[in-house]
Amino acid sequence: MNAEWISLEDVTFVRRQRVILDRIHWTVQPGHHWVVLGANGSGKTTLLQLLAGYLWPTRGQIIVLGERFGQTDLRELRKKIGWVGSFLQAQIPSTQKPLDLVVSGKYASIGIFETPEAEDYRQARELAVRLKCQDILDLPYGVLSQGEKQRLLIARSLIHHPRLLILDEPCSGLDLVAREQLLHTLDELGRAPDAPSMIFVTHYLEEIMPAFSHVFLLQGGRCLAQGKKEEILRSELLSQTFSIPIQVKEEADRYWTRVALEAV
Ligand SMILES: Nc1ncnc2c1ncn2[C@@H]1O[C@H](COP(=O)(O)OP(=O)(O)OP(=O)(O)O)[C@@H](O)[C@H]1O
Ligand SMILES: [Mg+2]
Repeated sequence: MNAEWISLEDVTFVRRQRVILDRIHWTVQPGHHWVVLGANGSGKTTLLQLLAGYLWPTRGQIIVLGERFGQTDLRELRKKIGWVGSFLQAQIPSTQKPLDLVVSGKYASIGIFETPEAEDYRQARELAVRLKCQDILDLPYGVLSQGEKQRLLIARSLIHHPRLLILDEPCSGLDLVAREQLLHTLDELGRAPDAPSMIFVTHYLEEIMPAFSHVFLLQGGRCLAQGKKEEILRSELLSQTFSIPIQVKEEADRYWTRVALEAV
């Protein structure tokens, strides 16, 4: 166990001779929840996949939950990491039963390869109620709406009480109300005393809830800025990140943007 909770030291990730992440330094302290912002293709999902050990850095060192990659059993570590995002959604068979999907989170697998206990199913039902998806438990995964799928995936990610929760655009495809409900659920989760560290990728500043304290800006695989939310969510830095004039406004502890498309 290392002193650091989550840290990337000089991490570079190269694929097909392309530098996708370039010399990233990042430290996440326990109790801090981070948002990662950046344009399409800037490397956000790749960064998350590195953190969860699904990809291996070309150079650099990674520590997650105090464990240094290369010196730790990644399969065990992954059981402490919850993941919600399209990368995972794509792997779920359409015939999968919702409760089995939620229970599978306990084993950090998509299918269930161990024998779950009745207690696992009780917990899965409880989480389904908490995430307001208890009414769809008899349907196969394939017929569910995007919002229902996202809620199930969050329930799945919480069943093993993760210490790190990675959320890659969890609100994509949700309607206005469903999105706001989900954001409130995440906010509550982030404020709980035993909250997992959350890392949340989004394209929309209005999705940044008060529980999120820090922001990491990625531009073309490089870190443009990182730090406390109030210091990073500023018009100049956001405009630089997206290469377009953006005005950022804070109101009632939420952030809103105006994009000057006519400037393109
Ligand atoms: N295996 C690979 N080989 C080559 N290029 C790759 C590979 N994986 C990812 N990339 C490229 O790396 C870049 C970063 O991809 P990534 O999915 O991390 O972006 P992102 O910031 O999550 O984008 P989005 O907002 O669209 O989800 C993209 O340009 C992508 O095409
Ligand atoms: Mg992505």
